[in-house]
Amino acid sequence: MFFDQKSHQKTSTYSMKNSENSVFVWPLCTRIIHWIIALSFFFAFVTSFFYTFYTWHICFGFIFGVVLLFRIIWGFIGPYYARFKTFQLSFKALKHYFVEKVQNRWRKIYAGHNAASSWFTILVLSLGSFIVLTGLLLQGTQEANGLFGFLNQDFFQSSFTFAFLHRFVSYFLFACVMVHVIGVLIEQFYHKTDMVFAMITGYKKAEGQDTQVSLVLKFFAYGIIIVCVGIILHVKSNGETFLTHTHFERHNFQSENSAYARCSNCHKPYPPFMLPKDSWVKIMQGLDNHFGEKITEHNISKAEQQSIQDYLVAHSAESSSHKLAFKTLHSLGELRPLSMSKVPYWREVHHKIDKKVFDSLHVKSAANCFACHQNFEWGILDATHIHLPQ
Ligand code: HEC
Ligand code: HEC
Repeated sequence: MFFDQKSHQKTSTYSMKNSENSVFVWPLCTRIIHWIIALSFFFAFVTSFFYTFYTWHICFGFIFGVVLLFRIIWGFIGPYYARFKTFQLSFKALKHYFVEKVQNRWRKIYAGHNAASSWFTILVLSLGSFIVLTGLLLQGTQEANGLFGFLNQDFFQSSFTFAFLHRFVSYFLFACVMVHVIGVLIEQFYHKTDMVFAMITGYKKAEGQDTQVSLVLKFFAYGIIIVCVGIILHVKSNGETFLTHTHFERHNFQSENSAYARCSNCHKPYPPFMLPKDSWVKIMQGLDNHFGEKITEHNISKAEQQSIQDYLVAHSAESSSHKLAFKTLHSLGELRPLSMSKVPYWREVHHKIDKKVFDSLHVKSAANCFACHQNFEWGILDATHIHLPQ
């Protein structure tokens, strides 16, 4: 290849300048940890909006938590620029960072974390850990599944608080992530410090020493990839994993009360925890006009009717820690309707479903919970068992 003297000179000065300014800041393991944190949070955030991805939401949230823990340890033992002791956490430094940013487009930057990214890292680690913890507690108290499933029985009322905190702090962190991304893009395109590429190639146009990573640390960091892949494969290959294992048992309501089997002539047995006591009493007292059907003593004897009513009342929503039960009671206030479709909570969760689906041949009515909620007749109801009929 031939270059003319001028352009060759030009290229070589440019590349010399380039290599002079470039510092190896982020070794591969730090970059991998950064991207697993970013991607697991992003996927956990997006999957949270779709009930079909419930298991994946839990899976990515869990991975997010594991990598945050890794990153915290990394902050103490990891390579130089990843260590917390190199972070610039004074307010003075933060103010200086922004003042200089505005005043001097071509300012020289430090190789490691600047004041803004130091604060952002601390924010992600602390809020992220909080989100993971409240998520696990929410899953445990509200759904009775996962690592904290055992908390459901005694603390299901706290699930409202955990839900609020988990959601609110997630949105807040998502907003902070957007600010971080915009900040990086400003560095990339306005200050031209190649900030975007720094987390890909590891090199940053800045002042400082190249970083080095010992073999032991490399093994430690690459271990995280194996852990994450392991979690994903585990979730993918198993129906119910340690992440979604439910603490509720399957119930055979008809064998718990033999008279209740008489109700199943027309529809599968509704779990007694579905409705409050007084709703069951109203239903049992109004059997002569039961949703257009006339049920008399000839169909179900008076003694059997009494036995069914006692059974339903004893196991009603008031005595249950199922999400369906306590959310129904919470949303009803003083109301005691005969049908779930009158329950505000029920309406709220189903309002996005097209009315045509309820009228379809396979479903026929909103009261046919069993068509869409697999195993509902066994008292099982969570997002992993929802299947809309095709
Ligand atoms: C003769 C048939 C028949 C029998 C027997 C019967 N039901 Fe029903 N039940 C119905 C029909 C029909 C509906 C309305 C379904 C619809 O709206 O599509 C219904 C609806 C219900 C609902 C309301 C579900 C909702 O949230 O909308 C409950 C609860 C219920 N039945 C409980 C019982 C109980 C308890 C018994 C036993 C004492 C019983 N049923 C026996 C026919 C029957
Ligand atoms: C046409 C199908 C269909 C019918 C019928 C139906 N559901 Fe649902 N249900 C769904 C779908 C789909 C969702 C998830 C909605 C979402 O999250 O966007 C859902 C969500 C729920 C949830 C919230 C679950 C969770 O984990 O967040 C509860 C509780 C519930 N249904 C109870 C019932 C009950 C009780 C009945 C019967 C009275 C019923 N559903 C009838 C389709 C149905």
